[in-house]
Amino acid sequence: MNDHVPLKKLHIKTYGCQMNVYDSERMVDILRPLGYEVSDKAEGADLVLLNTCHIREKAAEKVYSEIGRLKEMREEKEARGEGRMTIAVAGCVAQAEGKEIMNRAPAVDLVVGPQAYHQLPELIARTHRSKGERLSADFAPEAKFDALTMDRAVSGPTAFLTVQEGCDKFCTFCVVPYTRGAEWSRPVKSILDEARALAAKGVRELTLLGQNVNAYNGLDADGLESTLAKLMYALADIQGMDRLRYTTSHPNDMGQDLIDAHRDLPAVMPYLHLPVQSGSDKILRAMNRKHGRQAYFDLIERIKAVRPDLAISGDFIVGFPGETDKDFEDTLDLIRRVGYASAFSFKYSPRPGTPAAGMPGQVPDDVADARLQTLQALIIEQQQAFKEKLIGQTLDILFEKPGRLVGQAIGRSPYLQSVFVEDAAHLIGQIHKVKIIANSNNSLKGELA
Ligand code: SAH
Ligand code: SF4
Ligand code: F3S
Repeated sequence: MNDHVPLKKLHIKTYGCQMNVYDSERMVDILRPLGYEVSDKAEGADLVLLNTCHIREKAAEKVYSEIGRLKEMREEKEARGEGRMTIAVAGCVAQAEGKEIMNRAPAVDLVVGPQAYHQLPELIARTHRSKGERLSADFAPEAKFDALTMDRAVSGPTAFLTVQEGCDKFCTFCVVPYTRGAEWSRPVKSILDEARALAAKGVRELTLLGQNVNAYNGLDADGLESTLAKLMYALADIQGMDRLRYTTSHPNDMGQDLIDAHRDLPAVMPYLHLPVQSGSDKILRAMNRKHGRQAYFDLIERIKAVRPDLAISGDFIVGFPGETDKDFEDTLDLIRRVGYASAFSFKYSPRPGTPAAGMPGQVPDDVADARLQTLQALIIEQQQAFKEKLIGQTLDILFEKPGRLVGQAIGRSPYLQSVFVEDAAHLIGQIHKVKIIANSNNSLKGELA
């Protein structure tokens, strides 16, 4: 750290998906050279960054209540004579509702979209000069990635790495194509450089991120389009990069070479997040998912043929406009037939500007709530069954962090469950064989093999 730069406190609060987690880490990397040091509380911070999510109404509304809380903290800080607290809103709400934020929340100094945060140093300086000028900036992922440093701060042996951003799919319920822009893939070289730097700092597992990560088509050194599978072969060649994961995939972009990589590339973990949203053909059509339930079953069968132990995860929406009891039954039936190791499920939330928000047949809240409960109970049952099956098996565990008890370490199985093991703290950062001995609530218990 530069001695003549006085330390400033930065508090960053992250909502939403893993890409926002990645972006928050990168914002910290960008601000560190300016003397910002991360503080885990907003109280007394010189800069508070809210990295927001617009996906459902609840997520978006949280931002405004948080801004209210920050405004009070800012006044207290100023009253103590500790200078001003700059409040910045980043992420997908910033992109979608930049103007509205400025009108509704005058306390906000700065609004910056997901493709413009590399300009934060400049934007913050301008805000300070003009005392409260509020600025937003727009799409241009290329400029952002070119501006990011390869020298990331890492914490532990796992890391996220964004390889693709944006979405061209326009599912009728979803804001992402509007908040993240069109599909764009980073060039292979820039990804490999970032991955090599991470490996040199002890990272052993990468999760490649994209809104449609399996649509990845970045250019390679010869100027030719790559695929996600090709990219993973190159990443697996990096010394120490033992495990690769990727999320989120769209069923229609699951190419044969990616399926083959699950068979041929040991680094690719046997876990696939493959959202389907609904099991009803009628609802899938209304959602503009561009495939039916049978195509999803066929795809899973093809992947399981090469990787029978594959853990499948998914996303589901209940209460989409027009969803009847029969449609919901079809979703439950799909879940029973697939058998999920885990899944995320949500009550449909009408989003401004999306086609589904204006569709007839909006489902009453109490009906959607009841469906969500039924669906989640089924998923929990399947999740427990998947974990029970692992008892007695010996699995490679990548130890990530200390557990609650002295000597304990917590790691992840290839199938992504948390596993805790006694007397393993010395193995943090390494992969070790562990025998699974019990299923314990949200995790598994194991012993060193
Ligand atoms: N690109 C990914 C994920 C996008 S957002 C995909 O194609 O699946 C993550 C999840 O949020 C979605 O899979 C969906 O299940 C949920 N979601 C998106 N919009 C929603 C809305 N309007 N209401 C409820 N859930 C929503
Ligand atoms: Fe949203 Fe559909 Fe794109 Fe996923 S594929 S980000 S759900 S529009
Ligand atoms: Fe939310 Fe934006 Fe991710 S809307 S889910 S933070 S892409």
